[in-house]
Amino acid sequence: MATKRIVLFASGSGSNVENIVHYFKDDERVVVAAVLTNKKDALVLDRCDRLNVPAFYFNKTAFSSGTAVLSLLRGLAPDLIVLAGFLWKIPEALVLAFPKKIINIHPALLPHYGGKGMYGMRVHQAVKENNERETGITIHYVNARYDEGAIIHQVKTHITKEDSAATIAEKVHALEYAHFPKVIAQLLSDT
Ligand code: GAR
Repeated sequence: MATKRIVLFASGSGSNVENIVHYFKDDERVVVAAVLTNKKDALVLDRCDRLNVPAFYFNKTAFSSGTAVLSLLRGLAPDLIVLAGFLWKIPEALVLAFPKKIINIHPALLPHYGGKGMYGMRVHQAVKENNERETGITIHYVNARYDEGAIIHQVKTHITKEDSAATIAEKVHALEYAHFPKVIAQLLSDT
């Protein structure tokens, strides 16, 4: 397999970014070309410094109304764009420019607990409040509507009465760390 390039998008902590970077560290066939963030003070930027991964910050204008992020992405020439905890909706121009090349991870079993405003702990709190007996992760293609693209992979985990939103988040993060890099590797090997 020729070298494949991935670009990661993240808005916050970036623990999935760090996990993905570690996963592909010794794999010569996969390069994390860059991490892009919409938050100037996101912890993910510190992680990128420590991991020696190129990182870029962009603002709303660069992302939504201009061609700046699109040009940056074209220059980075990704085989796959991976949203790993990224909270803005992807503009249609980007979806059209990279068909079937943008994927997202969502911390619940879509189509449940998705859509605008459903991210991170908000998802786990809603799952807890509804006394769900299971939750999980969904990896899906990105289209121009929040959390509605075709599903690639889902994994479930059980919730007990003792679980809090915080322990549900831990269980879901563990699933993300175990499965997300493998799904990325599989998609890259299929391209
Ligand atoms: C992850 O759990 C990811 O599934 C979720 O944000 C978290 C980021 O954690 N994404 C969404 O909620 C997208 N709607 P991290 O920054 O520690 O990787």
